[in-house]
Amino acid sequence: MLKIINVVGARPNFMKIAPLIDAMNRFPDRIEHLLVHTGQHYDRKMSKAFFEDLGMPRPDIDLEVGSGTHAEQTGKVMMAFEKVCRDTAPDLVVVVGDVNSTMACTITAKKLGIRVAHVEAGLRSRDMAMPEEINRLCTDVLCDYLFTTDLLADRNLVQEGVPEEKIHFVGNVMIDTLLKHSERASKLPFPEGLDVTPGEYAVLTLHRPSNVDDRDTLEGVLEALHQVSERLPIVFPIHPRTEKMVRQFDLGHYLENAGAGRGFRLIEPIGYLDFLHLNMNAKMILTDSGGIQEEATVLGVPCITLRFNTERPITCEMGTNVLVGNRKEDILSAAGKVLADPDREYQVPDRWDGRAADRIVKILMDDDEQ
Ligand code: UD1
Repeated sequence: MLKIINVVGARPNFMKIAPLIDAMNRFPDRIEHLLVHTGQHYDRKMSKAFFEDLGMPRPDIDLEVGSGTHAEQTGKVMMAFEKVCRDTAPDLVVVVGDVNSTMACTITAKKLGIRVAHVEAGLRSRDMAMPEEINRLCTDVLCDYLFTTDLLADRNLVQEGVPEEKIHFVGNVMIDTLLKHSERASKLPFPEGLDVTPGEYAVLTLHRPSNVDDRDTLEGVLEALHQVSERLPIVFPIHPRTEKMVRQFDLGHYLENAGAGRGFRLIEPIGYLDFLHLNMNAKMILTDSGGIQEEATVLGVPCITLRFNTERPITCEMGTNVLVGNRKEDILSAAGKVLADPDREYQVPDRWDGRAADRIVKILMDDDEQ
């Protein structure tokens, strides 16, 4: 019996672990697994709502670490997870993505001599000012299994000296989840009171510290988005970090609802299915997130990424994504192009086919047999 701990911590982890749990559940006589939630995200809307939407089991163990500085959060996860590893003695820990919990649990398990698998390995923005890039590098250098979403990631790992036998190109677990739920999501009503027409609105997500923590940067971004919203209403589920900064800098006046067909529709963070539904009917997506660039690619919706780099370049090479940074003129020009010509040619990357989790579980079980 292979004893596995699956780790989740923050919102973008849940949709990546869900298909792995499904795939592991198909082999109850071969795999025993526990779900550990570090509690990095804890608000209902950032956490529990996703468990319900995705039909995930409740976590077996919740470390309840909460927010803090990077060192505080990472340190708290490490201390709490070390105890879990000692108490439960797993053969393998599975981590996903690039949040602080991903790195913290990897370091902890490896120091106890436990094997670790990283799902979504090898992505690189080459931007060391991004906390996630530090998390990705530390995680990948330590892990025993590196499961990648595309061959550009394999190339990054090989260039960094990772032995090829550790690298497995399996596809994209987040897209497993999207494909599984898209039909159900498409049948939902729009969140109440939104007052937008399908195909005639944009969706915005914005939370990266480099965009929201500095007043001038945030104001420039909001000014540009405000202008875009005069031509196309923007639905904006606002992240707690961003909400805090908008309030602190007193910039709420950029985000007003200007009535039918214009302005912002500011809403609280929404669940997975509602968000997928909004995205699939959007005319464009504006984001500084990582995973949403991939979701937009699969949905074929033009995506404008408010960042100077991406760890997911395949979404620009094959998908609908363009990188525009956070300067006002660049955001306006990119949005203007989409409004003038919304159709983008795109391709879905290889192995983003709904079967990535199955491939991962097969590899783990085959190795366990030997
Ligand atoms: C984290 C991830 C980021 C990911 C994002 C998705 C790291 C370094 N960052 O960023 O990669 O894209 O999640 O959401 O791991 N807060 C709440 N409620 C919550 C959680 C957070 O109000 O449930 C607020 C707190 O004020 C907190 C702040 O958000 O201090 C930041 O939370 P944190 O988990 O540190 O980072 P995120 O910005 O959410």
